[in-house]
Amino acid sequence: MAQDQSKPSGPDLVQGIALAELQDGRMLAGHAAGEQVLLVRLGTEVFAVGAHCTHYHGPLVDGLVVGDTVHCPWHHACFDLHTGEALHAPALSPVACWSVEQRDSKIFVRDKRAQPEAKLRGKPAGAAPEKIVVVGGGAAGFAAVEMLRREQYQGSIVMLSNDDAAPIDRPNLSKDYLAGNAPEDWVPLRPESFYSENGIDLRLKASVTGINARSRQVALANGSNVPYDRLLLATGAEPVRLSIPGADQPHVRTLRSLADCRAIIELAKTARRTVVLGASFIGLEVAAALRARDIEIHVVAPEKRPMERILGPQMGDFVRALHEEHGVVFHLEDMVVAIDGRRATLKSGGVLEADLVVVGVGVRPRVALAEQAGLTLDRGVVVNPFLETSIAGIYAAGDIARWPDPYSGEIIRVEHWVVAERQGQTAALNMLGHSEQFTAVPFFWSQHYDIPINYVGHAEKWDELSIDGDIAAKDCLLRYKRDGRVLAVASIFRDVESLQAEVMMERDAAT
Ligand SMILES: Cc1cc2nc3c(=O)[nH]c(=O)nc-3n(C[C@H](O)[C@H](O)[C@H](O)COP(=O)(O)OP(=O)(O)OC[C@H]3O[C@@H](n4cnc5c(N)ncnc54)[C@H](O)[C@@H]3O)c2cc1C
Ligand code: FES
Repeated sequence: MAQDQSKPSGPDLVQGIALAELQDGRMLAGHAAGEQVLLVRLGTEVFAVGAHCTHYHGPLVDGLVVGDTVHCPWHHACFDLHTGEALHAPALSPVACWSVEQRDSKIFVRDKRAQPEAKLRGKPAGAAPEKIVVVGGGAAGFAAVEMLRREQYQGSIVMLSNDDAAPIDRPNLSKDYLAGNAPEDWVPLRPESFYSENGIDLRLKASVTGINARSRQVALANGSNVPYDRLLLATGAEPVRLSIPGADQPHVRTLRSLADCRAIIELAKTARRTVVLGASFIGLEVAAALRARDIEIHVVAPEKRPMERILGPQMGDFVRALHEEHGVVFHLEDMVVAIDGRRATLKSGGVLEADLVVVGVGVRPRVALAEQAGLTLDRGVVVNPFLETSIAGIYAAGDIARWPDPYSGEIIRVEHWVVAERQGQTAALNMLGHSEQFTAVPFFWSQHYDIPINYVGHAEKWDELSIDGDIAAKDCLLRYKRDGRVLAVASIFRDVESLQAEVMMERDAAT
């Protein structure tokens, strides 16, 4: 992602600052030898680590210190202050670490340390498996293989993906990359060389058609079989396609893969008007991204307010007004019933001319393989707290997994990037023989123009919605409660409170 090209700011930490300037538990950003450095004081100890998150460069100084970790304000990654390790996705790479000297009641940042080894997690139970196979080259699959090698797993890793692109930063496909604000080299999660350098046998365009749980092999469409000792299913979700007349025309697109996004960008080069079907996250992020390309946007959706079901009426009205300020035209409580060439016919009788139609009406978990293998399904693949499915040795993570969420006490399935990555990481550890329960509280973010919406927790239904601050002023925190208990929190520019809510929910779930 973006490199740090900003000029060094804050005090020169090589020259030192007074210890009194940094209170216990507090952070301070400065620079050392041209690099931005974050100082964190914990009691008598002072840590110096890279000042920016390795995910999208979030300023860690605006985040939260929890124990001996620092959490990023933007998408809640978490770094170990001792080692710099990215403990919680979405960051996967460590931040740099510097030596700190305390002398004469002053703090000095000295040399950059060789990247410290990540802390060991203790010896896993039993012998390590020889062969791990991961089906899926998305968020969960990638985070799993990265974690396997981070944990110094020496056995074979085969990663099978029916996509033709290596793992990508999927959220970017509806944001900066689609808007034309990010070059394509920001999209891969890692350069191609990562896989060979780390002994990961990544096979693209490799469609898995079956699982034989008895002989422990997966079957590929090309007729070959791949044996496994442990298997991770991370097949994600696929966009719901419309069954209306005209939905199969080349200018009617869905968005999931890099190829989908490239096709939309190609059409957008000459499109004057786009109709977006669906007013939820993908649809409205696409609307915002295509407005940056100066394309006229009409959003058609059956609901009364965008995102009301997830965020409530007040936030729904705000999101609508935000998009209208940017020139988006809504056709709510309406549907497209047919697309005849450039003419999209609405149920209400109107017709919209469109050179491009983007369909963002939801996704379905890809559970065909799991079903064929005889795994227990319930609107997704049912897993236990260790993310293991009903067949021992087969794990599931990401958009397909339905797991027992300790905070809500419910069995849930979500479609969030960070959850998929964190589940991939937990599944990786458990495939190695650790016994880690998946306890992370769900988190997602969504970006509309320059407004990020962060959401922590999971509230399918609530009976009370309290609002702190002012949504219209883009400074707010909404609490979704049931029987007086906060189930979820949505916020705009209240990053520390959002992080605090996450920590509070995780602590609550652990008791
Ligand atoms: C455009 C877009 C923007 C998004 N933005 C956000 C956001 O801002 N915030 C957020 O929280 N979430 C966002 N999401 C959702 C997020 O990307 C998903 O929750 C996440 O990618 C799920 O990860 P996954 O590993 O379960 O599935 P995926 O990332 O979809 O990966 C699944 C993989 O499995 C492969 N596969 C499937 N079937 C087979 C098979 N039979 N054989 C071989 N390979 C197979 C696929 O090719 C793919 O590589 C966005 C999604 C999209 C599409
Ligand atoms: S920028 Fe830090 S988590 Fe995304």
